[in-house]
Amino acid sequence: MIKIEHVTKTFRDFWCRPKVTAVKNLTFNVPAGEVFGLLGPNGSGKSTIIKMILGLLYPSRGSLTVMGKTPRDVHVKEDMGYLPEESYLYPYLTADETLQFYGNLFSLEKKIRKERIGQLLEMMGLTHARDRRIGEFPKGMVRRIGLAQALINDPDLLILDEPTSGLDPLGCRQVKDLIRTLAQRGKTILLCSHLLADVEDVCDRIAILYHGHIQAIGPIKNLLEEKNQHRLTLSNIQPNTMKSILEAVRGIIGQNLKVDHPQKDLEQLFMEVVEKAEGQTHLSSGVSASKRVAPYLDPGSSESI
Ligand SMILES: Nc1ncnc2c1ncn2[C@@H]1O[C@H](COP(=O)(O)OP(=O)(O)OP(=O)(O)O)[C@@H](O)[C@H]1O
Ligand SMILES: [Mg+2]
Repeated sequence: MIKIEHVTKTFRDFWCRPKVTAVKNLTFNVPAGEVFGLLGPNGSGKSTIIKMILGLLYPSRGSLTVMGKTPRDVHVKEDMGYLPEESYLYPYLTADETLQFYGNLFSLEKKIRKERIGQLLEMMGLTHARDRRIGEFPKGMVRRIGLAQALINDPDLLILDEPTSGLDPLGCRQVKDLIRTLAQRGKTILLCSHLLADVEDVCDRIAILYHGHIQAIGPIKNLLEEKNQHRLTLSNIQPNTMKSILEAVRGIIGQNLKVDHPQKDLEQLFMEVVEKAEGQTHLSSGVSASKRVAPYLDPGSSESI
C-alpha cells in the first residue's frame, strides 16, 4: 500500500540552501490491511513523512509510492482519508454541513452522502449534535467529526495524526476499536501518536524515529517481548497447592518463582466503572458511544453503500 525507498527530505531556505534534513534515507513498506504506527520525539520527522505520503511535500531524494502510484495522482487521493493533528474544520459550519462539504469534495451523490453522514454521526455518537456549529464543540467532539470527515470517502488508506488526542478514555477506546475494526475490513491505517499505550493497543507494526532515522522497526509483539523470560498464569490455586508447586519448581530448576496477581490496566477499570454507571443512569448531554461501525464501511454488511 505504501512503499518508501531511500527517501530523504531536506527543507531549504529562501536562497535554496539546505536548512533542516527532516528525514534521512528512510526505507519501509506498509502492506494492505496493516495498522502501522510512527513514533518518535517532537521534530523527529513523523509529520514530514505523512505529508509526503499525502503528496503535500515531495521527497528531495528517493522514491515514495502509494497504491503503486505517486501520491500526487488524484485517483490515489480519492482513496485516502486524513485526520490532521490540528483541527482545520470551519467553526461556523454545523456537524452536518461539515460532512456535506467534505462529501461534496469527493463528488459523492446526494443520496450516498446523506446515508453515509447519518451512519457516521451515529457511529461517532454525534447524531444529537448534527445541527450544532463545530465552533461550539468541545475538543473531543471536534476530533470525532474530524475522524468522520476522514472516513466519508470510504478510503482504503487512512492516515491519522494523533487520532486520540483530546478524547476521554471512552472515546479513545471507541476510536481504537474502530481502527481495529477497519483494519479487519481490509483498510490500511498509518497513525502517529505520542500516546504509547494507544499505539500498543492498535498497531501491528511500528517504527520509532529519531532525528529522521528509523531506530527500531518491527511487529510490536516482537519488539516488546522479553524472550528470555516466561510467565505462567494459574487460576484459583489453593495455598497448599501453590506451596507444592513452588517447592517442585525449586527442586527441578533451582530457581524461586516470582508470584503476584495480574493487574488490570487503568483503562479497563475506567471502562468497567463508566459502563456500570451508564447502566444505572440516563445521560443525555455529551457523546453517546455507538458500538456499531458505519455499515457502509463494512463491505460484508447488507446495508453497505
Ligand atoms: N516547512 C518546513 N520548513 C522547514 N523546516 C521544517 C518544515 N517542516 C518541518 N520542518 C523541520 O523538520 C523537522 C521534522 O519536523 P516534523 O514536523 O516532521 O516532526 P514531528 O515528528 O511531526 O514532530 P511533532 O511530534 O512535534 O509533531 C523539524 O526539525 C522541523 O523543524
Ligand atoms: Mg508532527
